[in-house]
Amino acid sequence: MQRPSRILAALFFVASGWSAAVLAQPAAAPATTPAPAATAPAAAAPSGGIQSANIFEVKPEASADPKYAEQTNGERARVQPGNNAPMWRQVGTGVTGYSSLPKSEAPEAGNLIQPFVQYPGSRLTNAGEAWRQVRDNWLIPYGGSLLLIVIGAIALFYLGKGRINLHGAETGRKIERFTPFERSAHWSNAIAFSILAISGIVMAFGKFFLLPIMGATLFGWLTYVLKTMHNFAGPLFAVSLVIVFFTFVRDNLPSRGDIGWLLKGGGLLSGKEVPSHRFNAGEKLLFWGGVFLLGLIVVGSGLVLDKLVPGLLYVRDTMQVAHMVHAVATVLMMALFIGHIYLGTIGMQGAYDGMKTGYVDETWAKEHHEYWYDDVKAGKIPAQRSESAPPSQTVQA
Ligand code: HEM
Repeated sequence: MQRPSRILAALFFVASGWSAAVLAQPAAAPATTPAPAATAPAAAAPSGGIQSANIFEVKPEASADPKYAEQTNGERARVQPGNNAPMWRQVGTGVTGYSSLPKSEAPEAGNLIQPFVQYPGSRLTNAGEAWRQVRDNWLIPYGGSLLLIVIGAIALFYLGKGRINLHGAETGRKIERFTPFERSAHWSNAIAFSILAISGIVMAFGKFFLLPIMGATLFGWLTYVLKTMHNFAGPLFAVSLVIVFFTFVRDNLPSRGDIGWLLKGGGLLSGKEVPSHRFNAGEKLLFWGGVFLLGLIVVGSGLVLDKLVPGLLYVRDTMQVAHMVHAVATVLMMALFIGHIYLGTIGMQGAYDGMKTGYVDETWAKEHHEYWYDDVKAGKIPAQRSESAPPSQTVQA
C-alpha cells in the first residue's frame, strides 16, 4: 500500500514544479565538502535605492489601478519605484514646466516638447513631429517630384520642338530692350536667386543625390557652407526683387490682347507667335505670379526664418509654419523660373543677348513683340533709352 502512495506523491511534486526545484539543486555534496561559513557575504546584494526587476513580476501591477493613466510620478513611484512614465507622458503632451528664465527672453523655456497640433497633412501629434511629417511626407516627395516633372517636360519640349528660332533674317538694326540699370537689377536678382535655388535644393534634396556620392563629412560641410550662403543671399534677393518689381511693373500691367495671347498659348505649340507689347501675357503671368505674389511669400517667410522681422516672437511653431510656407512657395517659384530660365537661355534665339547686351535686332522685336516693335517704329517708344551704345556685332544665332 505504501508504494502507490509514494508514486502519487512523486507525481504531485512533478506537476507542481517542485521536481524542477529539486532537479535544479546541485548534486548532493560529498560528505567531505565543508559547509559554507555562516558569515559569507550574500552573493549579489544589489546596491542603491532602485533595483532592477522584471516588470511582469512587480506586484501590484501599476495598470491594476483604475486611475493608472492619471497617476502622478509620485504615485507611480510608490507602486513601481523608478518608473518615470507619468512625467515623460506629460512632457510628451507639451506641458510646460517651471523655468526661472524670464518669459520675454525665453518664451519656450520649461517646455521641452511642444503641445499637440495637426498641421495640414500631418496626424494630431506634438508640433515638432507634425512638422516633420509634413516635411518628410509631403514637401520633400511632392516638391521634388514637381521640379523633376517640370525639368522633364521642358527637356521633352526641347527635344521635340527645339529652340524657338527667328524666321526672318536679322537686319543689323538694334532696339534697346533693357537699359544698363534694368539689366543690373535683373542680374543681381538672378544671381541671388541662383544661389538661393542651388543651396535650397541641396539642403532639401541633397541627401538623396549628393550624400551617397560625397559621404557624410563632405556633404555636411557643403550643406553648412550653402546654408550660410542661403541666409545671406536671401536679404540680397529681397532687395533686388523689390527693385525688379518697380523697374518692370509698368510694362507688365495688363493690356488688350493679353487674354487672346493666353488663349492661344502664345503660339508656342503652333509655332505662329501671337503679337504682344514689350512683355507678353506669359511674361506678365510670371511677373505677377512669380515675382510679385510668390516673391512676397518667399521673401516674407524667408525673413522670418532669418529672424529679421522685428517684433516677432521666434518660437518653434512660428518657425515651423514659416518653413512650410517657405518650402511650398519656393518650390512653385523654382518651377516657374525654370521655365523662364529655359526660354531666357537655350529655349529662344536672341533672348539671352537682349538681357546681356541690352539690345535686340529689329527682326527679333517684330517676331516676338510685334506691338512693341510697331510702337518703337511709330516713335511712341524711343529705340534708344540710355547712353549705352549698341553692340557692334549682330545678335548671335
Ligand atoms: C537665373 C537665371 C535667369 C536668366 C538666365 C534670366 C533671363 C532673362 C531674360 C533673357 C529676360 C529677357 C526676356 C525678354 O526679353 O522678354 C528676362 C526678363 C526678366 N526676368 Fe529673368 N532670368 C533669370 C532669372 C530671373 C529671376 C530669378 C527673376 C525674378 C525673380 C527674373 C525676372 C525677370 C523679369 C521680371 C524680366 C522682365 C520680363 C518680365 O517682366 O516678365 N529673372 N530674364
